[in-house]
Order: sequence, then structure tokens, then C-alpha cells
Amino acid sequence: MEKLVSLAKRRGFFFQSSEIYGGIQGVMDFGPLGVALRNNLKRAWWRSMVELRDDVVGIDAGIIMNPKVWEASGHVQNFTDPLVECKKCHQRFRADQVSGPRHEDDGGEFTEARQFNLMFKTFVGPMENSSTQAYLRPETAQGIFVNFANILNSSHMRPPFGIAQIGKAFRNEITPGNSIFRLREFEQMELEFFVPPAEEMTWLDFWKEERLKWYLGLGIRRERLRLRAHGKDELAHYARGAFDVEYEFPFGWSELEGIAARGDYDLAAHQKASGRDLSYFDDIRRERYLPHVVEPSAGVDRSMLTLMIDAYHEEEVRGEQRVVMRFQPSMAPIEVAILPLSRKEPLTALATRVEHELRPHFRTEYDDTQSIGKRYRRQDEIGTPFAVTIDFETVNDQAATIRSRDEMTQVRVPLAELRKELQARVR
Ligand code: GAP
Repeated sequence: MEKLVSLAKRRGFFFQSSEIYGGIQGVMDFGPLGVALRNNLKRAWWRSMVELRDDVVGIDAGIIMNPKVWEASGHVQNFTDPLVECKKCHQRFRADQVSGPRHEDDGGEFTEARQFNLMFKTFVGPMENSSTQAYLRPETAQGIFVNFANILNSSHMRPPFGIAQIGKAFRNEITPGNSIFRLREFEQMELEFFVPPAEEMTWLDFWKEERLKWYLGLGIRRERLRLRAHGKDELAHYARGAFDVEYEFPFGWSELEGIAARGDYDLAAHQKASGRDLSYFDDIRRERYLPHVVEPSAGVDRSMLTLMIDAYHEEEVRGEQRVVMRFQPSMAPIEVAILPLSRKEPLTALATRVEHELRPHFRTEYDDTQSIGKRYRRQDEIGTPFAVTIDFETVNDQAATIRSRDEMTQVRVPLAELRKELQARVR
């Protein structure tokens, strides 16, 4: 983890937020390569969950919602963690994460646990009082539930169908940590899939397999992924069944995504609190019901961390250490690096022309700094699968070398065929 976090900072994947002021815990800023990786991830999720399916539509709801949403959903009452404080040093901990009755470092005793609500509070409008208090959403899911009737009335979607959303969520976690694994500001990719009540368990089965396959499709190693069924004691009070997709992080097997059968808990709660009818009338079966929900809920940050950890390799090549991020091309922040062997003409002009030709078709980077060896190392570390090297021969033979990140092989390809050759490798 330490090596990965240092690489992330050195190469520009992510930084501690507000670092020049000493940072702020639980918030991260994503650099040029980090944002590229996140965009690739989110695009892949949206493509498979929305665009390639005829039974899912997308929405983008507000981060701040009417606070009644969070009363109805149970978050105001129940979205809490047990908090204890060391009586001596006054540090605070999650009660379920401390091992005994005392703080180990300096031997102070803990206070009794109290329930601490994880929602961030803010005020809407120019008055700051209890009537203007609102929350930053702690999950994107509720934005979907409160729009259920809007989607039903404005589209042709009928159960079984889903509504998907990608967006930021906020939780005032007592102990954020493990890099970007547990943050206070993070991003979710959630699907709420509305089904006839009798079909809930079938769809839970379907989605848990589908989601596992999605991670495998990103190139994540099979042996580090597993599905774990929640035990009866672990299930949220509304859940009728749940699975976690877990990944074997350096700190142990941990949740990457949760897939839960939520019954009609949310729609029933919002129907009751809002007084709006949220039921669906099936005019073929002539019956009215509140759809049940199966929810695959993934984290962008945890998926990103997983991709980075899984891709990280250290190898020895001809007596030298190299670090290589073996991202699959679709996830790699840069697909093709264009590297002129020197900064002299006519190489610069040639390489610039090649880069302009390739840029509309690939995520490219032009780099003419440092020795070619150092530039290859940099591209290996940021996971660029292919580099095109323009050398002095290029002027004569109108050809360039394609170097592959993984095999470190080099093949000479005519400039006129570069695009086709790269496309065959990248796709
Ligand atoms: N709507 C259901 C829901 O929010 P969750 O298990 O609390 O369920 C779903 O969260 C996913 O969101 C998690 O599997 C994780 O990937 C991500 N997530 C939750 N809390 C997070 C945090 N503090 N930091 C980063 N990601 C988080």
C-alpha cells in the first residue's frame, strides 16, 4: 500500500486534499492520471449497466435533497456508528473497531459508546436554523427512489427495470483510512432494479453474478475476488438477502460492492411519508403492487484502488527493478505514448505529426524529456500499454517502433499503418 500511495502521488493519480494546508482527513484530490482512470471506470460501468441494457435508464439527482427524504429513509434515526472516546487523550474511535475497554497507546479508558450520525449537515438559504438544515446525501440511492414515479410516468419502463446513477456521496466516517478505501467524500455507482415481488430473489442471484463478471471483465485477478453472502446477523433490517463482492486488499478481504435485496422498504417508506402513490399497476396481470428492489451498489474509489493494487507489479529486468501497472488498455489512463528519441529536428516535427494523427483515436501522451529508458520506466509506472518511438531511421524508412509494456517487445511498423496496428492491440 505504501508503495502504491507513493506512486499515486509521484505520478499524479491522487493527492491528499488541501495538502499545502496540512490536508483534510478523508478527502482526496485526483490528478490527471487519476481522473482519467476514474472516467474509464465510470464509462465502463455506465456502458454495461445502462447503454447496453434495454431495461435500465440513468438519472443524475441533486446531492442536497429535502431533509424529509432522510427522515423517511431511516437515515436520520439509524445511519449511525457507535462512537467511543478515550478519557485520557480524547481521541475518538468506532466502538466496533477497538479491541478492548482501554486505549492501547496510553492506557486511557474509553467512554460508553454513543450513536454518532454520519450525515454531514448544512443549511439551505440565508437563514441558519433547524428549519433550513439539510444533509449532504450519504448514498445516491435515495435520489433514485424519490424519482421512481417520475421515471415511470415519463418513460416506457415497466418492472422489471432499473434506474442507475453515478455521483458523489458524503459520510462523516469516524475513522477514514486505508488510502482511498474509506473516505468522507466518495463516489458511488448505484443501480436500483425494481421487480415484481415474487422475482426478487431471482434478480438478486442474477445481479450478484453479473457484478462479479463485471470486475473480471476489467481484468482483475479471479483469485483475489469473491462473493460473500451476508449472515442473518449482518443483514440491514430492511434487507432480505445481501452479498458483498470482496477483494483481497493488502489489509485483508474487504467490501468492494454490496448487492442487496431491499424488498419494498424504500418505496413503502417514501409512499407513507410523502403521501404519494408509488405503486405500479400491471395491466396485463391486472394487479397493483409496490415493486421490490435489488440494488448493486459500487464505489468508484474502491474500484479504482482495486484496479491499481491489482495492476501493480514489481519485476526485475536485466538486473534492473521495474514497476509496471498492468492495466488492461480500456482502463489505462494513457493508451499510447509518443516518444521521439531526441529533441532534435526532424524528429520533433515527425513525432508531433504522428501524435496529432493518433490523438483523435487514442488517449495519447507526447513526451520528449529525459533519456528514452527513463521515459519507458515512467510509461510502465503509469500503465501505458504501448509506446511509439520515433528515431533517426524513421526519417528514411517512414516507420516507427511499437514497444509493448508487458512483453517489452519492439516491432517496427510503417507510419501509414500505425493507427491500424495500435487499434488491433488496444481494442
Ligand atoms: N445504497 C447502499 C449503500 O450505500 P453501502 O454498502 O453503504 O451501501 C456501497 O455503500 C458502496 O459504496 C460500498 O461497497 C463502497 O464501495 C462504497 N462506499 C461506502 N462508503 C464508503 C466510504 N466511506 N469511502 C469510500 N467508498 C465507500
